[in-house]
Amino acid sequence: MKLCVIGTGYVGLVGAAIFSDWGNEVIGVDIDSAKIEKIKAGEMPIYEPGLAEIVVRNIGEKRLSFTTDMAEGIAHAEIVFICVGTPQDDTGAADLSAVLAVAKQIGESLTDYKVIVTKSTVPVGTNERVYELIRQNLKSPVEFDVASNPEFLREGSSVEDMRTTDRTVIGSNSPKALGILKNLYTHLGTPIVECDLRSAELIKYASNAFLATKISFINEIAQICERAHADISTVAKGMGLDSRIGPKFLRAGIGYGGSCFPKDVAALYRTSTDQAYDFKLLRGVMEVNERMKYNFLKNVTLHLGKNLSGKSLGVLGLAFKGDTDDIRDSVAIEVVKVLRGMGAKLKVYDPQAMYNSKRVLGEDNISYCLDSYEVMEKSDALFILTDWKEFGTIDLSRTKNLLANPLIFDGRNMLNVEKVQNMGFVYFAVGKRTNGVELLAEKDKVYQKAVLNNDH
Ligand code: UGA
Repeated sequence: MKLCVIGTGYVGLVGAAIFSDWGNEVIGVDIDSAKIEKIKAGEMPIYEPGLAEIVVRNIGEKRLSFTTDMAEGIAHAEIVFICVGTPQDDTGAADLSAVLAVAKQIGESLTDYKVIVTKSTVPVGTNERVYELIRQNLKSPVEFDVASNPEFLREGSSVEDMRTTDRTVIGSNSPKALGILKNLYTHLGTPIVECDLRSAELIKYASNAFLATKISFINEIAQICERAHADISTVAKGMGLDSRIGPKFLRAGIGYGGSCFPKDVAALYRTSTDQAYDFKLLRGVMEVNERMKYNFLKNVTLHLGKNLSGKSLGVLGLAFKGDTDDIRDSVAIEVVKVLRGMGAKLKVYDPQAMYNSKRVLGEDNISYCLDSYEVMEKSDALFILTDWKEFGTIDLSRTKNLLANPLIFDGRNMLNVEKVQNMGFVYFAVGKRTNGVELLAEKDKVYQKAVLNNDH
């Protein structure tokens, strides 16, 4: 099939690459000419395992090409995918300006029947607006259909996710468009949900909001664990073995981030209020997520005090999660900013997100290290803020020798409590009654006793 993919971000670039790898002829379009030139030269604008090889191979085999000329891309294709960004606007809603601008241009360029498919995450009713906008901008009467085909790719594993998806959702009010899109995906052998436009749009938001709910739920259970001497990993394991619950997205930590969950949860909440409905549960999900980093930081301030000037802190992880260089809405970045705001000097390392982080954080009181061990040198404490696998296997005796103080704040539960504590570290994690938490409880007891004896 002949396809055009507009937008070469995470969704568009991975989509274009995999579609071409399935044997389709694909043109990727972007207004950013520097980006297009880089991609053509095999240099990926994002870190995504496996992507470069697929792009380079398919360019070489002439199934995949890139251009900044949208009309050229559209003229080539039977199916046009809109894959541009829908960031959060000031009101919490999705900013649709890029999607609508592309729709207008598609209208101006259409000369024969095509299916226009929105892959960007857009609120209920957007595809109807896209249809109208295309219709209004047609230069001559042309038949076309619109469809919603949301993607469920995770950054860091999007290549794998697209090849082995759990399901494909295709929403359209046109049986012809549904048939054409089904042809593109049937070979995957996984379920295809055919539905109306609006249901497809909502499936995407409901899925992301539900996953975010799972995370906020487990993060609240973690708070109970810490106080009630239980262990969150064990509780999550015990829950996850129930097939009705499932083990995924039950990893407690300092909260979810990234370019999707925070904006999509906020946008769905906004949709609910637009529909005169207060989605209370979702409001709680957002509040809990915001609270998680402060719960984590509370242990830091109780242990080290609120004034961190004179302290040198080591930070492992800046990306919003492991296996990506993306720092958009990264909780790690927010925590780094708070620690710096409290006067600390920071040494930081992330396997992929150093360049992006430097652009956002600058160099004021932050030095960027070459590896995890450089971060540790003479640091008064070590922070783990992103779940990169390599942080879970750091050499603990080397860590202890390098740190000025054997103190670890683990915001992603990457280390084994017993092992770390047996080696003499003071350790804080999330949802675990560690020796660090015991120390704070002891301090609190002394304080309570002092209060009772009036000698504080
Ligand atoms: C998410 C969804 O998982 C994808 O299905 C969806 O397509 C994508 O958003 C999107 O809308 O484009 P992504 O943002 O790449 O994908 O990342 P996730 O792997 O879902 O992680 C999101 C955040 O939740 C990260 O900060 C991660 O650290 C956190 N998380 C995840 C937890 O704190 N605990 C968990 O158990 C799982």
